[in-house]
Amino acid sequence: MLSVKRFIKYLSYKPKRLETLFNVYQFEKEASQKLSKNIFDFFAGGAGEELSLRENSAAFDRLKLIPRMLKGIDSFNLSTKILGQNVSFPVLIAPMAFQRLVHKQGEMAVAKAASQHGINMTVSTLSTSGLKDIKDVSSIPPWLQIYIYTDREITKNLINQASNLGYEAIVLTVDTPFYAKRLRELQNPISLSSSLLINLVEAGLKLDNVDPYSLPKYLSSLISSNISWKDIEWLRSVTTLPILLKGLLHPDDIRIAVEHNINGIILSNHGGRQLDTAITALESLQMVKEDLKTKTEFIVDGGIRKGTDILKALALGAKGVMIGRPIIWGLAVAGEIGVSKVINILKEELSMAMALSGFNSIDQIDKDIIFK
Ligand SMILES: Cc1cc2nc3c(=O)[nH]c(=O)nc-3n(C[C@H](O)[C@H](O)[C@H](O)COP(=O)(O)O)c2cc1C
Repeated sequence: MLSVKRFIKYLSYKPKRLETLFNVYQFEKEASQKLSKNIFDFFAGGAGEELSLRENSAAFDRLKLIPRMLKGIDSFNLSTKILGQNVSFPVLIAPMAFQRLVHKQGEMAVAKAASQHGINMTVSTLSTSGLKDIKDVSSIPPWLQIYIYTDREITKNLINQASNLGYEAIVLTVDTPFYAKRLRELQNPISLSSSLLINLVEAGLKLDNVDPYSLPKYLSSLISSNISWKDIEWLRSVTTLPILLKGLLHPDDIRIAVEHNINGIILSNHGGRQLDTAITALESLQMVKEDLKTKTEFIVDGGIRKGTDILKALALGAKGVMIGRPIIWGLAVAGEIGVSKVINILKEELSMAMALSGFNSIDQIDKDIIFK
């Protein structure tokens, strides 16, 4: 049932035609008008005073480019390889929970759009579509994001299921030992039916008696808060798939991860949703990349909203970038078509940023274009 407020909003909402939306921020504005306030705030919000959330994009904006000229740019090749996967351009879809709250097709719509563009999607453990259904529509085998639960069997079951289905990597999120204080959620909680969490239920989790308003926090309380590098060794012992760690920022942690032969590191402050005032992934990348001679691949996320942001991350040594909320805004506005449009906007903006900086392929991009 629609609440009165939501009903009034629904009646007064006049959708904009997709052809009139030209950048990610316009999609965000449109989504804010279309979604109910608690759902929009759940996806848009961050922890504390949302300082890290705002900094994520601001850090990209502060970084300036020194473009090269007269480079004879006539064609483009945005394709590249990330952890052995051939992708059409170096944008990956970040794992995000509960996508059916935004659109009835949820992750299925996102997976289809990703597939159409030949890019990778990481599926959240808290996905509201089945792992098999998502895999079946994906042209690039997805990765599965996991947590280490206190009940290790649940984590193991999820990994086995993904591995049997042909998922190609495991992304372990390490920055959520506790559910951070998120003001917007406290003021306007979302309610979530446990029947949506089909993968967790299939992996053996019992969720029948949990209050729908407490479910997000309850799910977080099941994550083991005392995991350490020993648990990474445990993870290695239960899967032969490549492992990425998501949520590292400190150079010492990154060095330890490299020593543990982790295949990929996703530098991330969880889109500003965990430790407020934590540095941004971009700043972390600037701190570590130069002195790390490693085969470990780096992916960056948080605040990436335009082509120049992607170019800057690649110039500083990232193999790719993950995009979170912009995908949700596309999904809210027009399901699969909306997500596809958002991906296309980012692709076109990256091409333009490369063309105007003097590059016609991803492997040519280097740090000399970053103004220090
Ligand atoms: C609503 C929401 C749900 C998220 N759910 C997950 C999740 O289930 N697992 C995870 O590892 N990260 C999760 N994240 C973090 C994203 O994977 C990613 O790190 C972040 O959104 C990137 O920042 P951006 O949204 O500014 O692009 C979530 C983020 C949002 C906004």
